Amino acid sequence: MVDQPNVNNGVVLRTTGLSKSFGRLAAVKDLNLELRYGEVFGLLGPNGAGKSTTVGMLLGLIAPTTGDIEVFGLRLKEHRWPILRRVGAVIEEPAFYPYLSGRDNLEALARAIGGISRSKIADVLERVNLLDRAHDRYATYSMGMKQRLGVAFTLLRDPELILLDEPTSGLDPAGTKEVRDLIPQLANERCTVLLCSHLLHEVELVCDRVAILKQGTMIASAPVRELVARGQMLQIKVADPSAAAAVLRSLPWVKSVEEADGYLIVDAPRDSASRVNQALAEQGMFASELVNRGTSLENVFLELTGKEGRD
Ligand SMILES: Nc1ncnc2c1ncn2[C@@H]1O[C@H](COP(=O)(O)OP(=O)(O)O)[C@@H](O)[C@H]1O
Ligand SMILES: [Mg+2]
Repeated sequence: MVDQPNVNNGVVLRTTGLSKSFGRLAAVKDLNLELRYGEVFGLLGPNGAGKSTTVGMLLGLIAPTTGDIEVFGLRLKEHRWPILRRVGAVIEEPAFYPYLSGRDNLEALARAIGGISRSKIADVLERVNLLDRAHDRYATYSMGMKQRLGVAFTLLRDPELILLDEPTSGLDPAGTKEVRDLIPQLANERCTVLLCSHLLHEVELVCDRVAILKQGTMIASAPVRELVARGQMLQIKVADPSAAAAVLRSLPWVKSVEEADGYLIVDAPRDSASRVNQALAEQGMFASELVNRGTSLENVFLELTGKEGRD
């Protein structure tokens, strides 16, 4: 079997040198992604970064210009249907009948697919937390419930890989929370999730690892926890930046100190601002400004997007 987590080095999806050009526009450039079984992987980038183009290629809807895609240890080019019947995708609002209930909608779709039991329908409704509203008409559902029914539909076929392209876009805050809370629960040892989002906060909340895309190029890739734990960036103003930098560099828990425009940019653990302040004061140096510039991940992303990536 090629589809078990212990084979293929635990890699469920791999892209190698994946690129797509639309005419002269390079939408995705030399993308090397590796998703492992059971994780929630975030593909983060501002609008136009190439996320949806990537998903389109993974679903065999867009032909890559160059490069390779391997899913479950099989090459997508040669094994499109055996792969895609094991992949679920929520890429746009699915078309449900407004006058049918959520459950009747799923039953109609299950009949079209075939081989899906009634208990399976109850099971997926429960997983997306819709069991108690399953008999209400789709038209009465909130935006978050509609999106969750879409996820339930995807779950009917027991996918081993779920692709979510901006699943909370257009949702109100309540719906956004409902859908986000659901995402980590979709992943387990036999199901992996790829979440595309332009929202840093969303990726930080639900993903294990993240790749950041900028104009089609991957500019960072790391475990979310590692990027966040790398610390906060403090921006400090002191009378003598060079002397203060030397003091801070001698502290074992300070990762890095850079001087820029008369300020020091210090990469230090979270909640260490007062310790930084104290270390300087002990040397008779006093910060006239000390500002938290956010986490490392946030800094990378804000450079790409300005404020747009903030919730
Ligand atoms: N079918 C297409 N024809 C031409 N350009 C496209 C097409 N699809 C996407 N693009 C362009 O490719 C780039 C990446 O788009 P997309 O993958 O949709 O980004 P994202 O999903 O990250 O917002 C954008 O500049 C977009 O305008
Ligand atoms: Mg998109």
